[in-house]
Amino acid sequence: MPKFHSLKVRDVRRETPDCVSVSFEVPPNLKPEYEFVPGQHLTLKKTINGTEVRRSYSICSSPTQGELRVAIKRVAGGQFSVFANEQLAIGTDLDVMTPMGNFTIEAAPEQVKHYVAFAAGSGITPIIAMMKTVLAVEPLSHFTLFYGNRTTESIIFRDEIEDLKNEYLTRLSVHHVLSQEDIGADLFFGRIDQEKSRRYCTRLLDVADVDAFYLCGPEQMIFAVKSTLLELGVEERQVHFELFTTPGESTGVTNKAWVPTQRLSAAKITLTLDGNTFTYDHGQATETILDAASKTIADLPFACKGGVCCTCKAKLLQGEVEMEVCYGLEREEVEAGYILTCQAHPKTETVVLSFDE
Ligand code: FES
Repeated sequence: MPKFHSLKVRDVRRETPDCVSVSFEVPPNLKPEYEFVPGQHLTLKKTINGTEVRRSYSICSSPTQGELRVAIKRVAGGQFSVFANEQLAIGTDLDVMTPMGNFTIEAAPEQVKHYVAFAAGSGITPIIAMMKTVLAVEPLSHFTLFYGNRTTESIIFRDEIEDLKNEYLTRLSVHHVLSQEDIGADLFFGRIDQEKSRRYCTRLLDVADVDAFYLCGPEQMIFAVKSTLLELGVEERQVHFELFTTPGESTGVTNKAWVPTQRLSAAKITLTLDGNTFTYDHGQATETILDAASKTIADLPFACKGGVCCTCKAKLLQGEVEMEVCYGLEREEVEAGYILTCQAHPKTETVVLSFDE
């Protein structure tokens, strides 16, 4: 079960005019709870102007660095990201959830692999954690990065990426793609779309030689690159992706297209959380299970409420639900019966689920 603890901000570093990275002090007794795998994220909680705000940010440090650090890009009108970019200071206490997320790489010294990542904007955050980890832990593996930004100035972690290139000259390839700055090469001017990704995958890579692809950025880029990869014969299981959005601030992907089916039902919900079982009437079928349950149960786990972060994941033990969107769960998790309660509506009169499994 994910859990919040109050952690002190240890460092705030400006990465670009629009992005800071923030590291936390983790007291020794909490260290095991904050162990993470590259690609995971932290949810931060703060009351701003009387409203509780939760936002998830990917961890940009590698477990090999002994540091817990996230990057926070300013989003126009985004309450938390503006606060973090303008006011967050060393020594501030923040509620930080234990690491979550399954967009991850399991690095192991004996592995010999070629990883390829496509990132855009702050989508680099989980990718750089993966990249640093693979390069440090797997001495025979290679990593190729295609990284889209507007201009050179907006490239997050530009210096750190350069340093990595210098340190791992033969094992790291980085291709910057800029949409508002022509660096004299047509191939790298514009956005990473279907046509561009096809050119990269046929001219600069042998996709048959790649073990895994990691995509992180806006929905459009992810779906464009994914369809290119599938067309080129890459298997779906080799393609991993995460929308870089922080829902509530900038998703643009949530439930706008969702239309409930006629089969939605008012229901009796039985829910287990932290060993305690609750039963309540879910009267309004169009309300999500998370929202309805929050009226009677305190401290339900959630962050994005956009179907992305998986913090609200629970296992469906009985009954049926309908989800509006489900970006965060892997196919195997859905097959195993997991649901995102922030997106789920009851379809049967009885629904039994557990946050503990
Ligand atoms: S709260 Fe993030 S997926 Fe439900």
